[in-house]
Amino acid sequence: MPPHQTTVHVRLQSVSKDYDEHGQPHPVLREVTAEIARGELIVLVGRSGSGKSTLLNIIGGLDRPTRGEITIAGQPLSGLSEDGLARLRRREIGFVFQFFNLVPTLTALENLLLPLDLLGVDRAEARQRAEDWLAAVGLAGRGGSFPEELSGGEQQRVALARALIHRPGLVIADEPTGNLDLETAQQVLRLLDDLCRREGTTLVMATHSPEVVGVADRVFSIHEGRLEISTP
Ligand SMILES: Nc1ncnc2c1ncn2[C@@H]1O[C@H](COP(=O)(O)OP(=O)(O)OP(=O)(O)O)[C@@H](O)[C@H]1O
Ligand SMILES: [Mg+2]
Repeated sequence: MPPHQTTVHVRLQSVSKDYDEHGQPHPVLREVTAEIARGELIVLVGRSGSGKSTLLNIIGGLDRPTRGEITIAGQPLSGLSEDGLARLRRREIGFVFQFFNLVPTLTALENLLLPLDLLGVDRAEARQRAEDWLAAVGLAGRGGSFPEELSGGEQQRVALARALIHRPGLVIADEPTGNLDLETAQQVLRLLDDLCRREGTTLVMATHSPEVVGVADRVFSIHEGRLEISTP
């Protein structure tokens, strides 16, 4: 396999996370160690409360581990200030959540312009890219709609476009199909899978749905704070 296909994108080294519970440390992640290759699709499973969102937030630089190191594209996150981490997230990472998290006062198109504005992308180019991404998720012509005027599946498709529009190397998705009916969930999943494969984007996705596991290259399973790695 050519070396570029096996480049390590995300490295987790003995990552532990404790939450404080009535003054006592409550361990959620225990010494999690793993490497994720660029372009790989990882599905993260585990029962409710096992630490999936905690791990995703740590990989995405939204939260910090209690111990251990996360390295993204060779950059150890412990070496970054809060501002540095925010810049890395804006440039390198896209997020998709269960409840879509679109800005309700902005149209679909304006929601897509937001990440590009933050990066200082030229307005005309940003608009073109937003139109292209709306088309890519099957919503050409719906750019003027506000989130509340869109169905759940349509909102999540806008959210996928928003997560990818700035061409992040890494997308973090926390139960992206958890709030959709089965058929819509499958459409959104297929779209997310296709778009990430097309762009060569690394995708780490938490889910409770057994059918989502089928798209994975590898499955990460959290059990009592420990990570087990398998293939689907
Ligand atoms: N900010 C916090 N403060 C204290 N405890 C927390 C905090 N966030 C999460 N926890 C605890 O950490 C554990 C893991 O939570 P997490 O949200 O990561 O689980 P999850 O696997 O994503 O669950 P679900 O499938 O329900 O989304 C739970 O016991 C939770 O109560
Ligand atoms: Mg969760």
